Amino acid sequence: MNTPTIADELAAALAGARFVFVLTGAGVSAESGVPTFRDAQTGLWAKFDPLELATPGAFARDPKRVWDWYAWRRELVANVAPNAGHHALAAIERRVPAFLLATQNVDGLHAKAGSQALVELHGSLSRVKCSREGTIVATWTAPDDGLPPRCVACGAFLRPDVVWFEEMLPEAALARAEDAATRCDVMLVVGTAAEVYPAAALPLSAKRGGALLVEVNPNVTTLSSAADFAVRAPAGVALPALVAAAWPEAVDRSGT
Ligand code: OAD
Repeated sequence: MNTPTIADELAAALAGARFVFVLTGAGVSAESGVPTFRDAQTGLWAKFDPLELATPGAFARDPKRVWDWYAWRRELVANVAPNAGHHALAAIERRVPAFLLATQNVDGLHAKAGSQALVELHGSLSRVKCSREGTIVATWTAPDDGLPPRCVACGAFLRPDVVWFEEMLPEAALARAEDAATRCDVMLVVGTAAEVYPAAALPLSAKRGGALLVEVNPNVTTLSSAADFAVRAPAGVALPALVAAAWPEAVDRSGT
């Protein structure tokens, strides 16, 4: 993919920003080999029914199936690495006075790339919790019966510490993201179809607050009409190009 042209006004706005807020979705990890949800053919929701895998009711009906599906995803993300897009976001954080990255992803790749001011709106595949009490459980052993492991304290099944449909987002993480949306002066929305609320409301809140709204996505989304700029390229190409355009004097042009 050719390096996209970054508008001078966009580069200047990023370089001069006081507070950059970033929202990412599955697209930022696509080039690491993690499937997205809604892309036709390759997206997870093209192959699986979310109502059978990502709701409390699905877990109650078939805990083994849901546990196994998340175990497969946990294994998948354990074997992939952050890409140039994740690294470029960590590089932006190091270059601006104030920054927050809110991700809908549960793959842990932003932290692996070195992002520090990070909130995981939809939880993390790396953690499990008691399905009854919500207590995070550090270690567990898979039982021989093939069912999910059980909480040693109460005997309920353990489940992944991710947000399922019909569930609330972690309160503190959402509050930090909502606050950032109202205070940022530049917001980058990277690799999300912006169809799942409340995350999808964050860019509109930033826009209402006067922020410059920038979409990084090879495809048009429901958010596109509200964006001030769109960089229509994969995140692994677009984000390093943004960094290079905003900080051309940077010695390290790789975005890291
Ligand atoms: P989606 O799969 O809905 O959207 C992925 C977006 O990434 C699409 O707009 C693609 O065009 C874009 N995309 C694909 N490849 C890209 C690339 N290389 N660089 C940049 N963008 C690219 O994923 P999300 O918007 O993250 O929630 O989905 C939001 C939530 O819905 C997920 O967190 C998950 C899902 O159901 C739950 O499981 C609760």
